Amino acid sequence: MKKKREILSIAIDSPAAAGAGTQAKLIAKEYNLFYLDTGKIYRLIGNYYLKSKKKFNYDYIKKKISKLKIDDLNNRKLLSDKVAVAASEIAKKYRIRQIVKNFQKNCAYNPPNKYAGSVLDGRDITSVIMKEATIKFYITANVNVRAKRRFLEYKKLKKKLTYHEVLKSIKNRDFLDKSRKYSPLKKTKDSILINTSKLSKKACFFKIKKIIDKNLKINGNLQRFKFRSKSTV
Ligand code: C5P
Repeated sequence: MKKKREILSIAIDSPAAAGAGTQAKLIAKEYNLFYLDTGKIYRLIGNYYLKSKKKFNYDYIKKKISKLKIDDLNNRKLLSDKVAVAASEIAKKYRIRQIVKNFQKNCAYNPPNKYAGSVLDGRDITSVIMKEATIKFYITANVNVRAKRRFLEYKKLKKKLTYHEVLKSIKNRDFLDKSRKYSPLKKTKDSILINTSKLSKKACFFKIKKIIDKNLKINGNLQRFKFRSKSTV
């Protein structure tokens, strides 16, 4: 029987705008991991919903997701607040979550060979998609800090939302994501809590890197995975 490929798998969950995506990208670069922003898949489906409510049904979504390419997720249209809210609405549905599950699991456990593993971020990554991840993080921040960061991102993208509109939208999504029946956002017992409220991007990454490196050393994983980690703390 073919030996299962050993990979480093990192799972991250977080509420909106806590800085998880930024940290996940830095982790991916440092440890040569494949990165998937799972929120983008729900945003893509949310966008289909906004565009074509009449055509929108499960078969249509199934077909679209079966043809999904990573590049499809790099669409700037997916960055709007309207799409984010639509994503949160459709993400409540069990059948939608089932449709996107395999795509995410495949990215998590079977990343392209050139990578030493994978890092995924979202809302149900530590609890559902990557239960077996090597390391799990729950990244969060105070809601006002998150709203301020998102407000500034929107400003850069020339989106005309006030700080209070952004705050309201984030609070609404926090509520929807944490209270839904299927795959709600929660911190699993085995996830390491990182609060980014008072940390710069760099300070936060340093903290995360220290944790990852410690784990790799303790478990002898440095030898097992194909790393090109530049500076082991
Ligand atoms: O992470 P992002 O803000 O782009 O996610 C948009 C929405 O997609 C979230 O508010 C959430 O409702 C949904 N989502 C989810 N499960 C994931 C990732 C995102 O339900 N793994």
